[in-house]
Amino acid sequence: MAYLLGIDVSTTATKALLIDEQGAVVAVGATEYSYDTPQPLWSEQDPPVWWYGAVQSIRQALETSGIKGEEIAAIGLTGQMHGLVLLNGDGSVLRPSILWNDQRTGAQCDEIRERVGFKDLIRYTGNNALTGFTAPKILWVRENEPEVYERVRHILLPKDYLRYRLTGEMGTDKAGAAGTLLLDLRTRDWSTEVLQALDIPREYLPPTHEGPEITGRVTASVAVDTGLKAGTPVVAGGGDQAAGAVGVGAVTEGIVSLVLGTSGVVFATVNEPFYEPEGRLHAFSHSVPGRWHLMGVMLSAAGSLRWYRDTLAPGMSYDDLLAPAADVPPGSEGLLFLPYLTGERTPHPDPLARGAFVGLTVRHTKAHMTRAVLEGVAFGLRDGFELMKGVGLSDIRQVRVSGGGARSPIWRQILADVLNSELATVNTTEGAAYGAALLAGVGAGVWPDVDTACNTAISVTGSTQPNPEAVAQYETYYAQYRALYPALKPTFDALGDAG
Ligand code: XUL
Repeated sequence: MAYLLGIDVSTTATKALLIDEQGAVVAVGATEYSYDTPQPLWSEQDPPVWWYGAVQSIRQALETSGIKGEEIAAIGLTGQMHGLVLLNGDGSVLRPSILWNDQRTGAQCDEIRERVGFKDLIRYTGNNALTGFTAPKILWVRENEPEVYERVRHILLPKDYLRYRLTGEMGTDKAGAAGTLLLDLRTRDWSTEVLQALDIPREYLPPTHEGPEITGRVTASVAVDTGLKAGTPVVAGGGDQAAGAVGVGAVTEGIVSLVLGTSGVVFATVNEPFYEPEGRLHAFSHSVPGRWHLMGVMLSAAGSLRWYRDTLAPGMSYDDLLAPAADVPPGSEGLLFLPYLTGERTPHPDPLARGAFVGLTVRHTKAHMTRAVLEGVAFGLRDGFELMKGVGLSDIRQVRVSGGGARSPIWRQILADVLNSELATVNTTEGAAYGAALLAGVGAGVWPDVDTACNTAISVTGSTQPNPEAVAQYETYYAQYRALYPALKPTFDALGDAG
């Protein structure tokens, strides 16, 4: 029996997950850490923190399972996307990594749209310039820390810093590379046009690889530190969203992944490099060779419910909080909630967007407000679905739902009704690390391709069907919800970043 290791370097922890050849989870090691916000809008992490987290988590997973390093056939990497890691010629880190949730680069996004041209930027990369992406961060360092920039020789993403430490090789995966805004969506390699327009030397960027491709092997010194075997292959893996989609089997057209975590992600696989003409959806390469994906990211999904519980019902369990909301009719008797508590990405890329309850009357109870929060998040996710339908994705056969919020049956029912689609749950719950382990299995030849890996390991465990009466009622409320952001936008702008 061979085992596969998936390593996920997330914003809050590095996780090491061991699975066997049937896809059963054997052990999980995790090391938590935090991130720094040295200035308003900034979000940074020191790359060595990820490495120490990985070493500890790998050792934990090996120790708790009793599995030996030589039994591991391959390792797959995944992690937070978009983060900027800068190394000098010796491979030393030059400054803390600027993370995906850092918002300092508004001016550099404008500059990129101007230098490349908005239409060309979308035509080449499939995407608009967003503060979270990597390219504007490179420009920010060049403009604000020229003494750092002049020493830069290598630009990596967080998980690729782990790859470098594990194998000594520089490389990245094509899904993560797309999130830099420097990848040509069609050719799945760095865009000569965009690099030229932004004056970023191509040699600073690592080679790009398909998700299951082997990118290097564990070095002898790392083997001593971790208990892994020297020479174990490390595959490219994928950015956390693409690897997470592999982890729930959302790898073919028609199967959409909906992740209801702090943020909410709608993810659809496509067989062609489709993009939304205004760049309102992310259009990236998938971790599956020769496939792409479209993605909508809502910043506060289950995060909205957590804020609501912590603020208005502190200490209450989610089950107790949500149960009375089941007796409130669809539409919460005329109460709407706008979930933009931390600004928004899809469909309104607006850091100044705010949350709101609209329609409150003295008749409304806490149960109405709870239901309105669940419905507001569902409406926001439907915005992502509508954009996907707009680019021609009409044949959505199944929506696979995962993440903490998906554990709630009432929230699943509201989502099925608002989206008018069956919602399926699957047997795998380890997200991106699980997908990375499957990609490692394909790289090691355990499975011939990603489809076979997913079909072997992943099965549907539950289904929520839409209720036609509620579907019809939600059509009206969704139209009212959609009108809210344009109506409130002048107020959001006037409030600015106060608070
Ligand atoms: C994807 C994104 C997040 C980060 C952090 O576009 O920004 O998923 O990768 O997990």
